[in-house]
Amino acid sequence: MPGYSGSVQPAHHRPRVPRREGFFLGWRGILSEFGEVLPITDKTPALTLKEGNTPLIEAAALSRWLGGGVQIHLKYEGLNPTGSFKDRGMVLAVAKAKEEGAETVICASTGNTSASAAAYATRAGLQCLVLIPHGKVALGKLAQALVYGARVVAVEGNFDQALAIVQELAEARPEIILVNSVNPYRLEGQKTAAYEVCRDLGDAPDYLAIPVGNAGNISAYWKGFCECFDQGRSRRRPRMLGFQAAGAAPLVEGRTVERPETIATAIRIGRPVNRERATRAVGDSGGLFAAVTDKEILEAYWALAEHEGVFAEPASAAAVAGVIQLVRRGYFPAGSRVVCVLTGNGLKDPDTAMRKGAEPLILPARLDAIESILQREPAHV
Ligand code: F0G
Repeated sequence: MPGYSGSVQPAHHRPRVPRREGFFLGWRGILSEFGEVLPITDKTPALTLKEGNTPLIEAAALSRWLGGGVQIHLKYEGLNPTGSFKDRGMVLAVAKAKEEGAETVICASTGNTSASAAAYATRAGLQCLVLIPHGKVALGKLAQALVYGARVVAVEGNFDQALAIVQELAEARPEIILVNSVNPYRLEGQKTAAYEVCRDLGDAPDYLAIPVGNAGNISAYWKGFCECFDQGRSRRRPRMLGFQAAGAAPLVEGRTVERPETIATAIRIGRPVNRERATRAVGDSGGLFAAVTDKEILEAYWALAEHEGVFAEPASAAAVAGVIQLVRRGYFPAGSRVVCVLTGNGLKDPDTAMRKGAEPLILPARLDAIESILQREPAHV
């Protein structure tokens, strides 16, 4: 059996893959691809895990199932290097921290921010300290932060309390940079997703549906869409639809929620730091905030997987749940183009995935045993 080493030529002997304009040009990551519209300088390190350029997927089956004449597209941010949209802003925030001579980055997180901060800090040669709410972070996210080598502290409190602590810490110590979305570089990096949506649709959509927790991402998208419009990259700006979980809906209720609770742990937040920016985005765009129950979130979570073959985490499904709710209320004019932002990968949260109780069939490793299930009705397979 010849080994690979015998059959593969050294790189410099291999024929080159022919390159044509627009063909096989590798994506270089957010800082390189969007350098013109980001606050980077000659001194900003060229940090990247090749984040961004995530697919915009047409959801024809989901749109048909829902009816109402809406055309849904899914911006699948779960395909970023650490599995969430956070990578777009984190790459810039960490590169700027490095540029400014910081030694440590710090954040509070419901999981995804900590995973992303840990990965980019390691890559940039910085220390990373994360505070997470004890027992309320999905397993995959916790595993990521630990594997990437962050110091992970689980506090006996919620996200809002953890954020207050890291904000105070970072204010007192200039060598520590806070990389939560109060850091303006986070939102600058995250706005690039709106540019990609305009590029892929050829215009901005009529509506942008997005889950809202600390309210940074909805603010970042709005900034991106406004810039695209001003630069002539789009002919319109979308109405921004921000969805919160019913047990953690401070922006819907117009008040702080002291004890936020939801199955969508990523958006289990009662005191969003970007409240004002997000409220302006929704108001200026003519959109709305609405709440979705955990039941609606789970319905959307399964509908996405079963109709579209797309696996997103529960917080992401909140955007789809919101669109389902609004379609049922007759909110959208027929023919509306709606983009749902799927902020995180479904693999992040295996516990929710397994809760429905589906299990594999266990059979002996014999052909006849496998054949026997093919003879049954498909529903029993
Ligand atoms: N979706 C996912 C998967 C998230 O992880 C978050 C936020 C949001 C939506 C909401 O975005 O905060 O900009 O409104 N996660 C943060 C974290 C809070 O710590 O990972 P937002």
